[in-house]
Amino acid sequence: MATPVFLCRDGELAEGESRGFDPWNDGQDTVLLVRHGGKVHGWRDACPHHGGTPMAWRKDAYLNYERDRIVCAAHGAQFDIASGACVLGPCLGQSLQRVELMTTTEQHIYVCPQGQEET
Ligand code: FES
Repeated sequence: MATPVFLCRDGELAEGESRGFDPWNDGQDTVLLVRHGGKVHGWRDACPHHGGTPMAWRKDAYLNYERDRIVCAAHGAQFDIASGACVLGPCLGQSLQRVELMTTTEQHIYVCPQGQEET
């Protein structure tokens, strides 16, 4: 059974900041974290518009200018940070896939495997 993978310390992610991670050594970032409203949200870096296209336009750049939505660089879809729902663009009605996060008492954030052991 796969174990949770360390991503970063809680304090390393400032409000309005996003960051991509490659926790399962896929050779590209497959998980993104965003701190919004004081809470850290974790999503798959996979746009629902085109079968899981990576969304950042450059490393760690997942947010719009206002830093209140996640944006897919491919065709401009915008997603609500808290719910993952597409609120603008070509995949309205679809949603990002949430990843399960775990924060230890030392404030270390881990991502839980969610079926990675089957791949
Ligand atoms: S692949 Fe993300 S908007 Fe088209």
